[in-house]
Amino acid sequence: MLDLDHVRSQFPALETPWVLMDNAGGSVPCRQVIDRLTGFLTRHPVQLGASYALSMDASAAVAEGRAAAAALLGATPEEVILGASSTALVNQLAAALRPGWTEGDEVIVTNVDHETNVGAWRRLEATGIVIREWRVRPETCELHPDDLAALLNDRTRLVAFTHCSNIVGSITDVRAAAALARAAGALTCVDAVAYAPHRRVDVRSLGVDFYFASLYKVYGPHVGVMFGRREALLETGSINHFFVGEDELPRKFEPGGVNYELVASLAGIPEYLGTLSDAGTLEDAFEEIAAQEEALVTPLLEFLDAHREVTIVGDPSPSSERRVPTVSFTVEGRAASEIPPLLDERGVAVRFGHFYAYRLIRDLGLMERDGVVRVSLVHYNTLDEVARLVEGLAEILGPGTAD
Ligand SMILES: Cc1ncc(COP(=O)(O)O)c(C=O)c1O
Repeated sequence: MLDLDHVRSQFPALETPWVLMDNAGGSVPCRQVIDRLTGFLTRHPVQLGASYALSMDASAAVAEGRAAAAALLGATPEEVILGASSTALVNQLAAALRPGWTEGDEVIVTNVDHETNVGAWRRLEATGIVIREWRVRPETCELHPDDLAALLNDRTRLVAFTHCSNIVGSITDVRAAAALARAAGALTCVDAVAYAPHRRVDVRSLGVDFYFASLYKVYGPHVGVMFGRREALLETGSINHFFVGEDELPRKFEPGGVNYELVASLAGIPEYLGTLSDAGTLEDAFEEIAAQEEALVTPLLEFLDAHREVTIVGDPSPSSERRVPTVSFTVEGRAASEIPPLLDERGVAVRFGHFYAYRLIRDLGLMERDGVVRVSLVHYNTLDEVARLVEGLAEILGPGTAD
């Protein structure tokens, strides 16, 4: 079981009266990340790659940060591309892949993804790429691999889909979907932004080609990371200067280089996670995290599911096998925008909107109601905080239980 006193003491920003439940928007950074960030800026804020000792120290710190990002995804350092954000990285990838495709080639996107893994691909339609849409099943708002199978053909070049919806919280069967895509000769680009803060990632066992996360939601700074399978990266064109070699990984995908101090600070993420279990492994840390999250989300889902006026978007199961603790709901007769300000008054920070999963919210007919109310928990939240949220909701919505 996680020692919550220990956990919370690792996050200086949690010393606030606010209950922070907007973590799918961004988690707060752990102390280890902050220390490394200020350490880099204090001790060796110089250019990398020179022969003087300070430069070598700076290079080593950035290399350590890259290795940490790679470890978080189960990849090697040369297979991880670091950038300003996930959105920037997906756009860079689309620009790098497009020259290798021809008019009439196809890309499959979904209607549940955050726009990051949709827009960059849909824009290729203007260049002759055919876009197909893998849609969620309406009952659960989940992606089903069988529905993907029907869309694949010998013109499919890439399937872009999410590991976990940032609205519904359900976990996609990535392994099955990636296997289908691979069998059809298509690449995969998977959005793990809503998944990586909650579960151990192992890109190798998932069998994906490209896989990305935003580390400011994984207790770190504003850096995006994208894994690319080595062979797929080598086959993809460069977006860097002409003199950067086609085999220079990951440099050919990092025009302008990386943000040194932020990347150096990434080593603080696995360092923090290592403090969560006796063995200190990422596997153990995420097992503890999954158990804590299931305990947290259970009373929230029970309350929402039992409330007459509330509709949970997607599946109400609290099982950590099926979901992460991101929960969205609507309230009969009320716009989503009405609820968060009332929780603000009670010191509980949640929010409303489409959360850039614009197409899902539009397809669910929820735009006119200002989208959904989203509560997004992480392992540093406590049962007391969830109780405060549920009490607040009960006051705002009324008890609303079925007779
Ligand atoms: C599921 C998901 N994908 C992608 C993104 C975009 O990430 P970034 O801000 O790093 O571009 C977000 C950000 O909220 C997200 O929640």
